[in-house]
Amino acid sequence: MEDYDLVIRGGTVVTALEQFRADIGIRAGRIAAIGTGLDGAARIDADGLLVMPGGVDTHCHLEQLRPEGGADEESFVTGSTSALAGGTTSAISFAVQFKGCGLGATLNEYRRRAAAAMIDYSFHQIITDPTEAVVAQEIPQVVAAGIRSLKVFLTYDALRIDDRAYLAVLAAAHRTGALVTVHCENYDAIAWRTAALLADGHTTPKYHPWSRPEVVEREATYRAIALAELVDQPIQVFHVSCTEVAEEIARAQARGLKVWAETCPQYLLMTEHDMDRPGFEGAKFMCSPPPRGPDAAAGLWEQIRRGTLDVISSDHSGYSYDGPAGKRINGAEASFRDIPNGIPGIGSRLPILFSEGVSKGRITPSDFVRLTAFNPARLFGLAEKGRIAPGADADLVLWDPARRMTITNSLLQHRIDYTPYEGLEVTGWPVLTLRRGEVVMRDGVVQAEPGSGRFLARGPYDFIRPLGRLPHGYDAAAAPA
Ligand code: URP
Ligand code: ZN
Ligand code: ZN
Repeated sequence: MEDYDLVIRGGTVVTALEQFRADIGIRAGRIAAIGTGLDGAARIDADGLLVMPGGVDTHCHLEQLRPEGGADEESFVTGSTSALAGGTTSAISFAVQFKGCGLGATLNEYRRRAAAAMIDYSFHQIITDPTEAVVAQEIPQVVAAGIRSLKVFLTYDALRIDDRAYLAVLAAAHRTGALVTVHCENYDAIAWRTAALLADGHTTPKYHPWSRPEVVEREATYRAIALAELVDQPIQVFHVSCTEVAEEIARAQARGLKVWAETCPQYLLMTEHDMDRPGFEGAKFMCSPPPRGPDAAAGLWEQIRRGTLDVISSDHSGYSYDGPAGKRINGAEASFRDIPNGIPGIGSRLPILFSEGVSKGRITPSDFVRLTAFNPARLFGLAEKGRIAPGADADLVLWDPARRMTITNSLLQHRIDYTPYEGLEVTGWPVLTLRRGEVVMRDGVVQAEPGSGRFLARGPYDFIRPLGRLPHGYDAAAAPA
């Protein structure tokens, strides 16, 4: 009998710490050995290639239900296809609570839709209306079902919660052992500036960043952190766009708080000037917070190097450019206020980051692995993901560091009809993806069966345990309801 089902031979194995030449032996979908001279029933030659953990994308919107009915255009099948083509094997998407509704009904619908996925997946539960029943009964049920992260928005009409409601969510997470992720922008400040801009006739996508400048994000980030400190609840700040926001986070981290933060490729490659393109074209680049001025990316790379920002996710959003359900859902003449926010990126995240980061010498291959796989898996309690170690799931991507490619939308294989990175030249490309030991992408051809992805139930884990630091030692979250 052969020792292993499959051996990846002779590649350069890249872990979160180091890189070395080795073979990887895989048995029953897991990494069984890392060594030399391994042999198995099947072999893949990785000579000249990097062998890295499959990407873990902990922020992407797949088939997210919309309050007006229907769902975002990127389905779990098309989103999985793009992910696998780009070397990502696991993702955390979102289940939204609609205001006035409970959590149960929509969660079942997400589980039903996600059953078609080919990547392994979990959800963040978005809380928009933390009623007594939601807080006391439903959040504990959702967390017990393995959805161990709650997401809140401090802006957007349909989703935002105020400070009191945010405290209620933080307290529920504190009691149940969940992580809270936060979209930090000040709702009222944006509404105030938007009203002024529109009254002045400034309606085009160019004015989207004007409506929500850096200070709006910084204020909300400061508040999100301060209230989390009050409750002693760990949080992750989503999609940090600029240095002044990262500096708020660094200050909190320096005080020992459990505050983590992600950024996304769009903030490293795009600027606010991308929204100032002729006609409606700027809508392709609209997301929130918006990309900032031309110096912002350099500042973010510095914060990545310092470790303030330790996860890079895609924030993949399902809005096409031409279709009626996407950017033009309110018409091609819609003002920036009424154009949906978000850009696609689940498939381009790793190639773009490798090229801009590793190939351009800004980060090492191990940094890349930490930012895109190891850290997100550790933060969100995915112990079997994001690592190359005996016992871990054999989710691997074989990467040609020298391959030069030009990004085109068709290469990305998502359903969205555009990529903001069209024409971008990259160095480094994924040539083969393994999910739990199975080849699911070879040379750009995705060969996974719909429904072969697994739900990742996330149990309790130490990394996000509260610090036990409470003002006056009083745990208000534990008080009787
Ligand atoms: O503009 C963005 N980021 N759209 C997706 C939803 C969100 O805010 O994460
Ligand atoms: Zn957001
Ligand atoms: Zn998002």
